[in-house]
Amino acid sequence: MKETILSGFRPTGRVHIGNLLGALENWVKLQNEYTCFFEVADWHLLTTSYDNVSSLQENIFQMILDWLAAGIDPEKSTIFVQSLVKEHAELYLLFSMITPISWLQRNPTLKEQIRDLQLTSDNNYGLLGYPVLQAADILCYKATVVPVGEDQLPHLELTREIARRFNNLFKNIFPEPKSLITKFPKVFGIDGKKMSKSLNNAIYISDSDEEITRKVKLSITDTTKIRKNDKGHPETCNVFSYHKIFNQNETENIKSLCEKGELGCVDCKNICSKKIIEYLSPIREKRNIYEKNPHMIFEIIQEGSQKAREIAKKTLDEVNESMNLKINRRFYDKTSL
Ligand code: TRP
Repeated sequence: MKETILSGFRPTGRVHIGNLLGALENWVKLQNEYTCFFEVADWHLLTTSYDNVSSLQENIFQMILDWLAAGIDPEKSTIFVQSLVKEHAELYLLFSMITPISWLQRNPTLKEQIRDLQLTSDNNYGLLGYPVLQAADILCYKATVVPVGEDQLPHLELTREIARRFNNLFKNIFPEPKSLITKFPKVFGIDGKKMSKSLNNAIYISDSDEEITRKVKLSITDTTKIRKNDKGHPETCNVFSYHKIFNQNETENIKSLCEKGELGCVDCKNICSKKIIEYLSPIREKRNIYEKNPHMIFEIIQEGSQKAREIAKKTLDEVNESMNLKINRRFYDKTSL
């Protein structure tokens, strides 16, 4: 029996190369060894963006295009949209009954998010509770492995605590899922900060050759290397960090030329953007094919969500039964005697 994996992204639209290398490529490998569920977490997005829903459909579409282009295979994995599987909401409601408020308030990832987004004390109730929704996402499928980034570890700890509490209170239904941390160095944005859509510093899977070239040209390099022949410090250079990923064969060579002052930043950037383009072009070609066939995406969403519903429904039958929420005929038969 294969173990089950569940992971997901909020549908914020096009996917950048940080997500490609940090998560998607890992998912692609995992699909061969595990039963995989990949969730478009649209309800999660509402916890912070409920006032901005106009591009939601477009963003779901764009994100799934990138998933497929990267190699997520709907024949192997179940790709689904959270809001099409209402069982998540039902399990979330039931879990919310057994989750102490203090477990939610101490969540460091949530605290950080509230700080970063400059949210205030009249934050919406859904935001505080979203890690409970995430527990429901995972446990609807009894997933045992959850590939995530480090920031998600508190949510996974909460998932295990909820599972344990449920199992003790009612019936041993749920596994306690483990995280699978993706060991990939953080990919920096062109400004040297963490690559992120909101910081406007990302290179996207779907960027054209020209856009990639332009972004690499704009990238910050070693700030002490001003003239072409100055000796550089590649380990502090953003563009060098891209070479290490996309130009592995020549990394050593680039490094020593830069350090000796024999390679200027302009030439170095040209080599770098060519390599990124080379890496992304087969992915982009695949993406273009899907993009021209939007009905295929519609079908993938429908079929995947149907498959997800069937499994989630079985879990909820068990849950409702164990919580004595199932109205059953026998009770009334007995009472009528
Ligand atoms: N919370 C995750 C994020 O913000 C997305 C997510 C939703 C998720 N449900 C999940 C991740 C379940 C892993 C498992 O990116």
